[in-house]
Amino acid sequence: MDAPQHEIVIVPRVGEPGRDELRQECYDVRIDVFHHEQQFPLDTEIDDLDSTATHILLRLLPSLKPVGTIRCTKHDNYYKLSRLAVLKDYRQYRFGRALVLALHDHVKRDAKQSGQHDSVTIKCHSQIPVKAFYAKFGYSPEGEEFDEEGAPHQLMVARLSSSD
Ligand SMILES: CC(C)(COP(=O)(O)OP(=O)(O)OC[C@H]1O[C@@H](n2cnc3c(N)ncnc32)[C@H](O)[C@@H]1OP(=O)(O)O)[C@@H](O)C(=O)NCCC(=O)NCCS
Repeated sequence: MDAPQHEIVIVPRVGEPGRDELRQECYDVRIDVFHHEQQFPLDTEIDDLDSTATHILLRLLPSLKPVGTIRCTKHDNYYKLSRLAVLKDYRQYRFGRALVLALHDHVKRDAKQSGQHDSVTIKCHSQIPVKAFYAKFGYSPEGEEFDEEGAPHQLMVARLSSSD
């Protein structure tokens, strides 16, 4: 099925105009998916990483309805992908794919700007039912499953060339 028209927005950085409003739209999608649908606790949905993270939002056009989001954080020697969510009614339109690829583009741009011209590492804590989704984008499992927020997760790691 053809995907509805949409846009991908990189939420402005800390201190830039529009960050709070657009980040709230990302939170709204996350709360809908992770809290209302998947029953994760509401009080841990927004965490310490959110204040400085790069948030990416997918909205329908022309309505600007937010339907998907993903979050990228930068750590000592890797980036972390987290909080990937697409509203239930909008799955299978390749929006999840578009969000992961937008995060990869952001990571490559950021790595280049930071003078890192070799490969970059991206980690994510995958829920078990979506391991095969991440595998499509080059992520491989590392280590044992572990509990996070009461649900089993698996560390998945991808290595990208920042010069691609
Ligand atoms: C995981 C999620 C983001 C995928 O979004 P989506 O828009 O439905 O996925 P896409 O349509 O972009 O799928 C891309 C590819 O992955 C596949 N795929 C989608 N969900 C999958 C899953 N759960 N397991 C395995 N493959 C999956 C699709 O079939 C498609 O394959 P193809 O390119 O070979 O045709 C969405 O199902 C979701 O929000 N789930 C609930 C929240 C969640 O679990 N987030 C991850 C937390 S770790």
